[in-house]
Amino acid sequence: MKIREDFLPLNRPSIGELEIEGVTACLRSKWITTGALCKRFEEEFQTLTGARYAVSVCSATAGMHLALMSLGINPGDEILTPSLTFASTVNMIVLLGARPVFVDVHYDTLNLNADDIEARITSKTRAIIPVHFAGAPADMEPILDVADRRRLTVIEDAAHAIGTRYRGTHAGGFGRIAIFSFHPLKNVTTGEGGMITHNDDLLEKKLRLLRFHGIERDAWKRYGKRGNPEYDIAEPGYKYNLTDIQAALGIAQLSRLSEFNRRRGELVKLYREGLGDTEGLDLPGDPSYPHDHACHLFVVKIVAMERKRFMERLSEYNIGYGLHFPACHLLKYVRNRFGVTRLPETERAAGRIMSLPLFPDMSDDDVAYVCAAVRAILKRGRGGGSA
Ligand SMILES: Cc1ncc(COP(=O)(O)O)c(C=O)c1O
Repeated sequence: MKIREDFLPLNRPSIGELEIEGVTACLRSKWITTGALCKRFEEEFQTLTGARYAVSVCSATAGMHLALMSLGINPGDEILTPSLTFASTVNMIVLLGARPVFVDVHYDTLNLNADDIEARITSKTRAIIPVHFAGAPADMEPILDVADRRRLTVIEDAAHAIGTRYRGTHAGGFGRIAIFSFHPLKNVTTGEGGMITHNDDLLEKKLRLLRFHGIERDAWKRYGKRGNPEYDIAEPGYKYNLTDIQAALGIAQLSRLSEFNRRRGELVKLYREGLGDTEGLDLPGDPSYPHDHACHLFVVKIVAMERKRFMERLSEYNIGYGLHFPACHLLKYVRNRFGVTRLPETERAAGRIMSLPLFPDMSDDDVAYVCAAVRAILKRGRGGGSA
């Protein structure tokens, strides 16, 4: 097949006139840090998720840090998490002196296996962090059930889950804590950014203090008309606020969420049609429970040949790809500090997974091209002729 001349990346954010106008208007307003646009973005997130509170932050990683801090996670505490997650979660747990305890996933969906939770709970376990992997919701009912019985806090990692619904409830809307990401790869971007959603009055106070130096009020209230620039600090906090420039981008993006996710769904359907009967490739499984998939990533598993070689061949076809994720329990510092946990399904998937290009501005022809390349590479990898 003919190799395309331009590079098809894993992702390219869809930035149109609406986003450019929104950001420009913010710049013209001369209020560019946390202010009215962040507040509006937070309110729109409350509406989307059904959560009582939404707190904007500079990244989902910062959101996870604040969530763990505000829960009072102490050195020695244990936090349950899948190993197939972004390393930021494990980094935050470890930097707080706590211990990540890994739970296995289902090979097909790569979502947490709720049946593997209970055996990993000890007297030190404080929280569990299910990931809505690639935009498919984790099976929340059994997870919430075991969490309630064993008094564990649930922090949903909803970084992939803007538009994800589980049995009609949007990610972040289960009355627990959730974190979202607006990194450029995500379904909605603010350049960099994140959101915490939750329903708890006390937590709300703690999160907002920790987000901004431990200072009681936001900058726009301190520096606005009749604002009082004095402050006191009862407990130190971080500098994790989002800016209005970022929120302006986020508001425009959020208004296009259904357009984005509809297109993502169409592209995934095309991938499934184009790759459905390909030998040597496992397609992502769809959860059997009722859900809306945000189609954030399209993660396939390369079974018939070495993944590294497959990726090299994709590059030769001018196709980008991603790896979501290198298994965290196998990261050097995690192995050195905590030893290796046996996670059979995670390990079966970990060496095979890779993410194919998926973003709303991709054309049908782009997907057809990737499918043809994948088929050709695998055919040749299995010794079935030239690609
Ligand atoms: C599952 C998951 N959790 C957390 C994060 C961290 O998000 P951020 O880059 O906004 O800190 C990511 C980002 O890629 C992610 O994929």
